[in-house]
Amino acid sequence: MSDRRVLVNLRGLLTPDPAHAWAVDRIPDAALAMENGRVAWVGQATDLPAQWADAPKVDGGGTWATPGFVDPHTHLLFGGDRSGEFNRRLHGASYQQIAAEGGGIRETVRATRGATVAELVAAGEERLKAFRKRGVVHLECKTGYGLELEAESRLTAAYAELKKRGWSFDVTLLPAHDLAPEFVGDAEANARAVAEEWLPELVRRHPGIARFCDVFVETGVYTADQGRRIFEAGKRLGLIPRVHADELSWTGGAELAAEVGAASADHLMFCSEAGMKAMAAADVTPVLLPGTTLFLGMRDWAPARKMIEAGCRVALATDFNPGSCPCVDPLTILRLGCLQLRMTFEEAFTALTLHPARSLRRGDLGHLLPGAKADVLLWDVNELLELVYWVGEPYRPRLLPA
Ligand code: NIG
Ligand code: FE
Repeated sequence: MSDRRVLVNLRGLLTPDPAHAWAVDRIPDAALAMENGRVAWVGQATDLPAQWADAPKVDGGGTWATPGFVDPHTHLLFGGDRSGEFNRRLHGASYQQIAAEGGGIRETVRATRGATVAELVAAGEERLKAFRKRGVVHLECKTGYGLELEAESRLTAAYAELKKRGWSFDVTLLPAHDLAPEFVGDAEANARAVAEEWLPELVRRHPGIARFCDVFVETGVYTADQGRRIFEAGKRLGLIPRVHADELSWTGGAELAAEVGAASADHLMFCSEAGMKAMAAADVTPVLLPGTTLFLGMRDWAPARKMIEAGCRVALATDFNPGSCPCVDPLTILRLGCLQLRMTFEEAFTALTLHPARSLRRGDLGHLLPGAKADVLLWDVNELLELVYWVGEPYRPRLLPA
């Protein structure tokens, strides 16, 4: 039996249009017909085709409907937290200084290595619930706080269990998130271990779980050349590259992303103009993480406007992680996109829905045109712009799941 429903009594509906980079449809007095969890028709209620007249109705209560958010960059699973380090930063220590003293990512690695799969799953599920409450219906989730085979394997197993429980996300293998404590001073050997041993073994142990791989290309971590070799190894295993690129300094990360055919290059606070052009030409999605710029207290916001002018389909993400952005809130990111990256509301909304989905190769997410998964958010506002305008207001959408 097919499940047919029509969402009615909407003040309006806003959806990006996958046929265009930045065009947004804004339909007043909208209705949306869905069949078996997919959008079948969308338009003004007065134009609803006769075949839907008898279908059961869902009352939208005079709200605005939008597609659910897609978050294309999170470090969902980790042990412990870094509130102690955060307090040190409030007393003047820098993120890089704390990392150089063996804290930072490596503190989380110690806590993650000590966590069982069950503990990782329990923490992960709480975080997924927090995202969902705020309207995030699909995410990209990275490993990367294991930095050795067995711990990375436990993280991947925890993701496999969360998938089994029905959560919607894509997994990225990131054993090259930092130099492992065992390899400090020998990035070359660490890169070889990642490319030749860890990635192949993770894919062998957990078939079908990960779709992407990632490398932190950064001064003092991995060079572009080491990143290239890890990505080539990942591609041979069927993993599509995503790159932590030009986050704290320029290291040619965006250029590398274009060269290896990456789905995305992420962070990009120090991206070059050549890198922007290369990303546009190679259809690499720049994923900008303004929550991280905010939380690290940096002044260099990623040049979103220049990227859009260069022809890039910019996406936004939380970068949820314990060190540089412990934030699960897409509205905070939407607001920073408008207020600091100088995106219009429609651009920032598209950058949190359609473009992230595209970077995850999910044509059925991030919009509400026919064929899309019918994950609909209902916002109790007069105008959607209020979500940004009332800047501290903790709006929560009602999620109408597919
Ligand atoms: O995306 N750049 C590397 N990784 C994270 C930070 C991780 C951490 O501090 O724990 C990021 O900013
Ligand atoms: Fe990150």
